[in-house]
Amino acid sequence: MFKESGRKWFEVQQLELLYYTRPDAEKLCSASMTNRRKALLLDRKGKVVATSCSSIFLHTTGGDAAMDKEQQEFQHVPVLLEECIRGLNIKPEGTYVDGTLGGAGHAARVAALLSGSGRLIGIDQDADAVAAAGQRLAPYHEHTVIVRSNYREIRGIMEELNISGVDGILLDLGVSSWQLDCAGRGFSYREDAMLDMRMDDRQEKTARDIVNCYSEQELYHVIRDYGEDAFAKNIAKHIVRARQDKPIETTFELNGIIQAAIPAKVRMAKGHPSKKTFQAIRIELNRELEVLRESLDIMIDLLNPNGRLCIITFHSLEDRIVKQNFRKNENPCTCPPNFPVCVCGKKPKGSQLTKKPVLPSEQECAKNSRAKSAKLRIFQKI
Ligand SMILES: C[S@@+](CC[C@H](N)C(=O)[O-])C[C@H]1O[C@@H](n2cnc3c(N)ncnc32)[C@H](O)[C@@H]1O
Repeated sequence: MFKESGRKWFEVQQLELLYYTRPDAEKLCSASMTNRRKALLLDRKGKVVATSCSSIFLHTTGGDAAMDKEQQEFQHVPVLLEECIRGLNIKPEGTYVDGTLGGAGHAARVAALLSGSGRLIGIDQDADAVAAAGQRLAPYHEHTVIVRSNYREIRGIMEELNISGVDGILLDLGVSSWQLDCAGRGFSYREDAMLDMRMDDRQEKTARDIVNCYSEQELYHVIRDYGEDAFAKNIAKHIVRARQDKPIETTFELNGIIQAAIPAKVRMAKGHPSKKTFQAIRIELNRELEVLRESLDIMIDLLNPNGRLCIITFHSLEDRIVKQNFRKNENPCTCPPNFPVCVCGKKPKGSQLTKKPVLPSEQECAKNSRAKSAKLRIFQKI
């Protein structure tokens, strides 16, 4: 156990992190400390609500100034909020998962609509997001559990919590404004920082490793495919040339290299020259598309009858993955079209409620520029 800016961390080897908002959780969880490989998370009556959590993070209640400051600084305006809430079709006694909890902008609205046995499980892999969300969801602590993990682990997390089916899952993909604006995280080309870009800082590989260790061909593919940058080839060439002198360590060093790889006329005419390359490196580092692709079928399988999966994407490749997956689950039959009856036996799991994605209104885009590229798609289980 160690203290960090007023918070207490309980480390239990090899398992997942679970953050618990209850004020008396510290006392209840002290039993976990005697067994370093297994944690028991108990509710007020001493009932086990979760086991085998890798590290349980509790913040001490009562005027934690550092934490309050942290929460104030977690600025992120939830995108397509009303549309998501309508899309999830919240039942007060239902069970919902926010797989990309962030600052709990969407989750707080979901939690406020729950009552009785209603539950919200919030998942995020970023420790700062987990801390901020814990504060935001504290008024709803009886209905919420926060798990620090990757949403690709959703099945295991639900098993851990003894939940066999859920009524709704929300994913609001990408990074939060807070992560982008936080200088030390290295996500932004506007701040000089070490090349990091990890959402989960327990991971060893950073953006620095990609920039300095990928071959020119690999860099080209990443920047072209995930950044859709027309100058990907030249940017990759410049990166490889620059790192022959010394490793590329910071965001501003990378900015300089990218600028030199883009013709001056284009540099002036379009947005920041580094925007697409930074996005590409972030997507590659955090394996964002791979994780999404692997998780969608699992999430649909976890839905209860009439349960809904709502996904907000910000990148054309993300949207394509969601669109194709929803289409496949709506019509999985692989029989040739001229077969009179289906012989493959694959049955639809539900239907898309959004044949075309829901887009933010002009007013929302005017207020929040991050909303401009957002697309919401919704799938309903049979
Ligand atoms: C756009 S923000 C979500 C904001 C949130 N909906 C709100 O309104 O405050 C995305 C969040 O998802 C998290 N995230 C992204 N990919 C993830 C993944 N595969 N597993 C868990 N968390 C993820 C990021 O760390 C970030 O905090």
